[in-house]
Amino acid sequence: MPGKIHQWPLWPEYSVDTRSSVDKDFIDAKKAIISEYGPEKLKQGWIRICKQLESITDDISRRGNEIIPVCTSNVIENGFSTEEEQRIKKAGCVVIREVIEKEEARKIYTDVHNYISDNKGTISAWPAETPSMYEIYDSPMQNSIRSNPRHLKAQRLLNKLWHDKSGETSPDPLIYYDGVRDRPPKQVFLGLGPHIDAGSLSRWAAPTYRKVYEAIFSGNPENHDAWNLELRKDAVQDLFKAPSHSSVFRAFQGWTALTPSKAREGSIMLYPNVQATISYMLLRPFFQPPKDKSDIMDASKWTFDDSDSYSFPGTEKDLSQCLSRTSHPHLRLEECMVHVPDIQPGDTVWWHSDLCHAVDPEHEGVENASVAFIAAVPTTQIAKKYIKQQLADALSGRQPSDTQGTVNETHLKGYKGHEGFSEEARQAFGYYL
Ligand SMILES: [Fe+2]
Repeated sequence: MPGKIHQWPLWPEYSVDTRSSVDKDFIDAKKAIISEYGPEKLKQGWIRICKQLESITDDISRRGNEIIPVCTSNVIENGFSTEEEQRIKKAGCVVIREVIEKEEARKIYTDVHNYISDNKGTISAWPAETPSMYEIYDSPMQNSIRSNPRHLKAQRLLNKLWHDKSGETSPDPLIYYDGVRDRPPKQVFLGLGPHIDAGSLSRWAAPTYRKVYEAIFSGNPENHDAWNLELRKDAVQDLFKAPSHSSVFRAFQGWTALTPSKAREGSIMLYPNVQATISYMLLRPFFQPPKDKSDIMDASKWTFDDSDSYSFPGTEKDLSQCLSRTSHPHLRLEECMVHVPDIQPGDTVWWHSDLCHAVDPEHEGVENASVAFIAAVPTTQIAKKYIKQQLADALSGRQPSDTQGTVNETHLKGYKGHEGFSEEARQAFGYYL
């Protein structure tokens, strides 16, 4: 099966809750949803989603990463075909090739590498023991990709997959500053196992956010529309402020490859389904597994849990939502987390904000695996406010508030500012907000 993990990495399991005291925010969120939707609807949803996952997981385990749509760069001019759009909406992810021309991407990589070494000791990176995620946000290289007209067009195309009849948003892309990864070969990285970004407990605790998932809590998860921006635009993702949480809604998170990568060579793994996965993850805290392990896949043997317990496996207020094999067994993660197809410099990988993903724990290749994290962010009120501030911060040498970084990037060797931006790029960077 293409893209399958050959041996499950030593990622943490989340079945056992070791916390010693009760955090009221968890209990309050759970009780609020139970009182709003009722136990019967939640039980109905649980049975339905576990049933739906049987065929979805069979399909992914059979077809592997062939489920991930791969588009040529022609879509940038022509748009997605109806078939491509349907496949992207189901899988919640897509690879778009050659958004940046290959040679240009390679040149950008060389410049990134030099920029980092020229500013060694000033730029910070994590994890501490094997730094590879570099906290630079306003470098000339990142900005040249973000302001590239083809890249902006790709962002707009992706934003357009979401719908909103309110007239309060638009697919016009805004640039959300994120970092760069430059990971050397042989560097093992277990820090980002299967997880979903955009807010962990906020999905249950913030009333505006849980409204997005109303169909799921109402017992009809198969009716959940994962592409409804009308509700999503006002969701508060960072009710619990932490560097893990973006305060801005990203229609798709994304990376633009600067060097080649492939399975076990510093790639990314995706769970290529969005509606069923997020539904299952959201219903999971309301149910306790059967004592007999042989019954674990039988959803009817799970017990509805309205006790004052946490029962939120993999959920921490200040971290992304984590998933694991034992805590989320019906997802069959071992078979369904798949590597994206082989990637070349200039190719882009995009995944829905509710999609489960993981960083390849291995890098057995010979070249550094480097990517620029650049998302597709539509224009919403929350995004406008943040991007306006982000621009003011960048021009004053402050790093973006979501990152909590403290380096003055305007003092870095090789810093260029925003000279030469097109009008379109200036708009995306927030100059007219
Ligand atoms: Fe992530």
